[in-house]
Amino acid sequence: MGIMFDEQQKIFHLQAKDTSYVMQVIRDGYVSHLYWGRKVKRYNHSNQLQFADRGFSGNPYQHKEDRTFSLDTLPQEYPQYGNTDFRKPAYQTQLENGSTVSDLRYDSHSIFKGKCSLEGLPATYAENDEEAETLEIIMKDAVSGLKVALTYTVFEQLNVITRSARFINEGKESLKLLSALSMSVDFRDADFDFLHLHGGHVKERYIERQPLRHGVQSIESTRGASSHQHNPFMALLRKGTNEEAGEVYAFNFVYSGNFLAQAEVDQFRNTRVTIGINPFDFNWKLEPGEAFQTPEAVLVYSSNGLGEMSRTFHELYQTRLVRGAYRDRERPILVNNWEATYFDFNAEKILEIASVGRELGIELFVLDDGWFGKRDDDTTSLGDWFVDQAKLPNGLDDLANKVRNMDMQFGLWFEPEMISVDSDLYRQHPDWCLHVPNHTRSESRNQLILDFSREDVCEAIIKMVSNILASAPITYVKWDMNRHMTEIGSAILPPDRQRETAHRYMLGLYKVMEQITSSFPNVLFESCSGGGGRFDPGMLYYMPQTWTSDNTDAVSRLKIQYGTSLVYPIVSMGSHVSAVPNHQVNRITSLDMRGDVAMSGNLGYELDLTKLTDEEKETVKQQVAKYKEMRQLIQFGDFYRLLSPFEGNETAWLFVNKEKTEAIVFYFRVLAEANAPFNSFKVKGLDPDKTYKVEETNKVFGGDELEYVGLSVPAELKGDFQSCVWRLTASK
Ligand code: DGJ
Repeated sequence: MGIMFDEQQKIFHLQAKDTSYVMQVIRDGYVSHLYWGRKVKRYNHSNQLQFADRGFSGNPYQHKEDRTFSLDTLPQEYPQYGNTDFRKPAYQTQLENGSTVSDLRYDSHSIFKGKCSLEGLPATYAENDEEAETLEIIMKDAVSGLKVALTYTVFEQLNVITRSARFINEGKESLKLLSALSMSVDFRDADFDFLHLHGGHVKERYIERQPLRHGVQSIESTRGASSHQHNPFMALLRKGTNEEAGEVYAFNFVYSGNFLAQAEVDQFRNTRVTIGINPFDFNWKLEPGEAFQTPEAVLVYSSNGLGEMSRTFHELYQTRLVRGAYRDRERPILVNNWEATYFDFNAEKILEIASVGRELGIELFVLDDGWFGKRDDDTTSLGDWFVDQAKLPNGLDDLANKVRNMDMQFGLWFEPEMISVDSDLYRQHPDWCLHVPNHTRSESRNQLILDFSREDVCEAIIKMVSNILASAPITYVKWDMNRHMTEIGSAILPPDRQRETAHRYMLGLYKVMEQITSSFPNVLFESCSGGGGRFDPGMLYYMPQTWTSDNTDAVSRLKIQYGTSLVYPIVSMGSHVSAVPNHQVNRITSLDMRGDVAMSGNLGYELDLTKLTDEEKETVKQQVAKYKEMRQLIQFGDFYRLLSPFEGNETAWLFVNKEKTEAIVFYFRVLAEANAPFNSFKVKGLDPDKTYKVEETNKVFGGDELEYVGLSVPAELKGDFQSCVWRLTASK
């Protein structure tokens, strides 16, 4: 494994665990992409580049005598605009003279052990220099003085390559970056399906797959957040690829703001994939000497279907993206008061819920929105991070200590990036929000967004949040964000830097989160944006778990959690049991099914526990106890999807430890069917050479039998909204 450079042929051969990625410096210093896919020991041009005179594919000036050389027909490594490649470029600059042409050529490179961090940005990391190797290729444009460093890191134990680009203006004049994507890959065919995760509020990360077609297929966010609508993830799948077999090329963007991910199929049926900060409404000025770092793109290759792709992402993110005390630690089972009380609570009510929670074995109480300012509804007080004495007359410290005295942890909700017009903060600083001159400030959920591109705003928020966290024994924070950006502009940036605001906001946000999370290293942080509107690797770098969706209905959650599991680790998915009829869809499902769905993630409860019957309390108590037994495996085991809610009435998945000696299978059936066939399903992910005992039935099966023959669904499951859990242990 590692990175090899063939000096004579100028070929870079990057090898991750079972993957090769090959590129070459060709004539005149252009860098051409040769191969990405299953690992080869040696690359010797079996798919050699074709040079042919193709009509309307022009030739760069120095090749005017050679009509077979065109950047339009050759696979590029970091394509540019203006000198014969007519496909989408990876970046575009504008010089003071108005020109938007640039011409980057290879200058030099270096190869070194380990992986560098990206200044001010979240990124995957190596814990020691032996587990990763990095290549930096320096490209230069002779006309403008632009220098671009293309960075590639390969991980020894994972099929992962990370990429990013750094722009440095070494010229004498300023230049503008009109776009600066993090990576581009050219494939020499288009026999792929395009798979991505789309959605909306309360219906995040639904899987969609369609064949690639000529032209551009893209997903994006222009909302100032990675968004509920599209996740910054896309994959190209070979035809027929499924969970266990087939090639997958996956791309995920380590960023929480506007993004663009696209696949372009050109006239020759080549496919170009690019991912990065959305060029729409983006423009970054680089004065001489200044630099711009793009966020990181994570490239995962799998030759064993989507299942292996997901397990690669899960392992990378759990072990080499998430940081801090909770990275490897089991997460507490929580009860959150949002759907129990909304804004209508007082200290007594909170303590009543917490006390029942404790009785049932719950470990953490989370006080949600409404504890600060005068916040009795969503029209007021964001920005006034001071306890509401009317609701909590003895303060937060007193409440938190009372919860702690019950032997429970105490957690608190914040929405630090926001400001209500009806707040003391807004009355003092009306220019602290994102806004542009002469335009009304559009509100969403009655709130505006603080201008985190400003250092003074960030400092003030760090101070307020830190004061609260230091004022009481708080061990968990839910960091919410409930609207998208409009009228994007900053009061303190000059006109020619206004289009930098959205990215500067993200840099400010990352700085604030870095500072707060490192000042409170023992606090568990969970990010949230109206549920899963910012479920992305950028946020996971700072906060190891995310509230998956504001939709807590068990049936809806099957799709949401299944879709999310494509990329994000199970332990990162907050999933709660809530009351019925469900508050989002009005559906009534059994407490058992609600429990089993929530237990398939990072378990919590979000309902008024004091209103449960004794029988329901007993069920919850058993769920909590069972989850504690299974938690290590669910939160840190390997995950296999068995039946898809996007394809039928049934869903199933499995958690298994690395040694394949312990496993848990979850099965869900949404609607009952008359005269239904007696069905079974195949349990993948076990060791076919091991024998497993099913704890619930005491029956013993070979791993091969469970995988090839299948496991029967019990005939006793009757009616709608059924679920079943089997715990398997390999015999010694
Ligand atoms: C949106 C979150 O997703 C909910 O869980 C809750 O915290 C509300 N915000 C509170 O306003």
